[in-house]
Amino acid sequence: MNSPDTDETRFHDGMRFTRNREAGFGGVLEFESGDLDEILQVFRRHADTILSFFYAVRGLLVVKRLQAICDEPQALVELSRIFGPEVEDYHQTLTSARFFHESVKEILILTNAEPCNHLPPPKPAILEAKVMPMQFPEQINWHTDQSYRRPPPDITLLLAVELPPRNQGQTLFADCTAALATLDPARKLALEDLRGIHAPSWIGRSREAVAKGEQPLDLLPHQLPQRQPLVRRHPVTAEESLYICEEKQMDYVDGPITGLATGPDGEGARLLRELLRHATRKEFVYVHEWEPGDLLIGDNRNLLHCATWYDAEQCTRLMWRTTVMGNPGDEYAGEAKTWIPRDGSEVMAGMDNA
Ligand SMILES: [Fe+2]
Repeated sequence: MNSPDTDETRFHDGMRFTRNREAGFGGVLEFESGDLDEILQVFRRHADTILSFFYAVRGLLVVKRLQAICDEPQALVELSRIFGPEVEDYHQTLTSARFFHESVKEILILTNAEPCNHLPPPKPAILEAKVMPMQFPEQINWHTDQSYRRPPPDITLLLAVELPPRNQGQTLFADCTAALATLDPARKLALEDLRGIHAPSWIGRSREAVAKGEQPLDLLPHQLPQRQPLVRRHPVTAEESLYICEEKQMDYVDGPITGLATGPDGEGARLLRELLRHATRKEFVYVHEWEPGDLLIGDNRNLLHCATWYDAEQCTRLMWRTTVMGNPGDEYAGEAKTWIPRDGSEVMAGMDNA
């Protein structure tokens, strides 16, 4: 990994970067100033430095103490623009309107509260022993955001607005570059010609839905599952990574992996489970314990992530999310956005209950 020579670098302009040595990837960015306007100015002035640090730590950066954005949501969009050419307009995505921010079209709301009712994963049985599971399959929902479209988005920014108690509702990240590098070379070579078929979780094509015999939704052309390489080359760092998703966000009708037997118990399903177990091994996983005002910036091109259980009966977890896109790599060069309808139909037509 490219890296600055020191563990910690302090800049004159009141920024401090700290690498996460323990996880082996990721880092923290802190500002001396608590004033949002000043922070934005420093961010803009040192955008190249911040980006080079971001990529040197494999695309995982926590910026501390940005609570002030809660009163100025447009600032989140402005910060997002530093990380790529286009910030997603959520009104154009395969996402229900109840998740949209009321006034800023680039912000998605993730919460268990009304009207989103976005519930955490079920309480893991193992938690009775006071240990939150971190690895697949005990920890479920590992994914990269919106992998069911081409080109998939580059980077996700998550702002902590309201949080459950510590040790609940963490966000876990897995370093899929390190995971790929440690695969057996013959296994790695065999993956290079394969593609995963990624699908939204709510269209009846997940492993669970297919195993239960649910009828998949009829889809319009712009809603169809999409094929993605299992091995992706990062357009900035040129590093190769595993690019996979958990069983909720893959297509078990036609996949989950091209060229291998389909279905919940087919060869493709077995290979995917093997890769998920490998990618989420303890040595590849970083656990983010949220603090109010944390802005977590994660690269979807080379990291998997998931949220852990929290007690949704007792507390609220509220996150604001933006997504940055426009630099997916050569694999997608010149492609039109698959999720934008070309026949004049509504984006979410037939998916209204998602
Ligand atoms: Fe996500």
